[in-house]
Amino acid sequence: MAPTTMLGDGLSVSPLGFGGMALTPVYGGVDPADALKTLHHAVDAGISFIDTADVYGAGSNEELISRLLRERRGDVQLATKFALVGSPGEGYSDVRNDPPYIRQALDRSLQRLGTDVIDLYYLHRRDLRVPIVEAVEAMAGLVQQGKVRHLGLSEVTARELEEACSVHPIAAVQSEWSIWSRDVERNVVPAAARLGVGFVPYSPLGRGFLTGTVDAASLGDNDFRRRIPRFAPEAASANQAVVDTVRSVAAKLDATPAQVALAWLLAQGQRLGLPVVPIPGTRKRERIDENLGALALHLAPAQLEALGEASDAVVGSRSADPTWVSEGRE
Ligand SMILES: NC(=O)c1ccc[n+]([C@@H]2O[C@H](COP(=O)([O-])OP(=O)(O)OC[C@H]3O[C@@H](n4cnc5c(N)ncnc54)[C@H](OP(=O)(O)O)[C@@H]3O)[C@@H](O)[C@H]2O)c1
Repeated sequence: MAPTTMLGDGLSVSPLGFGGMALTPVYGGVDPADALKTLHHAVDAGISFIDTADVYGAGSNEELISRLLRERRGDVQLATKFALVGSPGEGYSDVRNDPPYIRQALDRSLQRLGTDVIDLYYLHRRDLRVPIVEAVEAMAGLVQQGKVRHLGLSEVTARELEEACSVHPIAAVQSEWSIWSRDVERNVVPAAARLGVGFVPYSPLGRGFLTGTVDAASLGDNDFRRRIPRFAPEAASANQAVVDTVRSVAAKLDATPAQVALAWLLAQGQRLGLPVVPIPGTRKRERIDENLGALALHLAPAQLEALGEASDAVVGSRSADPTWVSEGRE
């Protein structure tokens, strides 16, 4: 699978990416030796677009990815992010978008990753004390210095994206988008399509829930999903209806629920006229191969309609703090 999907600003990536977050503890424990093998397997299978962030594992996720890059830097389009202080496991203590912080965060990421350039550098969350234009000007300075090739933004509103594009081309917006998280379709996705910005849906499998393999009642104490309203017992049990629909579409296509969830996103890209590159994460090598099967899966109009109806019935917010994601600030 050679890189074939063109995001914005001329950034070409593999049609499916790999979400690195799952390789440091966030949805359960991880064996570091196995995690490196999983990363190599993703690249062997043709996934060259690898996603990480400085906060995943409080820096240890980038360090893990550096071990892949040591051997295969040229095979990878590397994306990382700045802005959050803390870690998904321990919680976040601050969000920073001020220029001195951005410059320092980038240098630390470059050091942890053992590389001298990031292909796609994302602002991870908005710090509302800093105008977006000011943050993107600082990010553009990093491009001028040759330390970053392309810029991205995560969980921005349509308005914030427009303002950012007035400063520097934006290659991609990375926000949550899946069968059970469709709020971005209202404003952000149309803005991205209009502005020539690609979309990188995160948590495309609903943090695993859409695959039907997650029992919300038995998540570990440190599992990040325990903090998300739609994983709370009552909501999760109502949301089994969405999983049932995904499962029934999968059964008719001789596919798996994960493949249906990913193929649904690729179909939305075609419907809405913008490049869409989901970044599912997994600790398991065989699931990488399974997820890649989505690229060859075609969903019929009636199946897309059934999945759309199921998504209308989702119970519970995707974030405990509504302003944490774009929807709450629109
Ligand atoms: N920008 C942001 O704010 C933000 C937020 C969240 C995530 N992200 C990025 O997006 C990436 C993906 O999101 P995510 O990890 O939250 O959620 P996801 O990709 O929707 O789901 C990941 C979960 O699904 C399971 N899984 C993967 N493939 C599967 C399959 N074929 N069958 C059954 N289960 C499967 C994994 O479990 P196993 O490990 O057990 O396979 C894992 O727990 C992250 O890795 C990260 O890079 C970004």
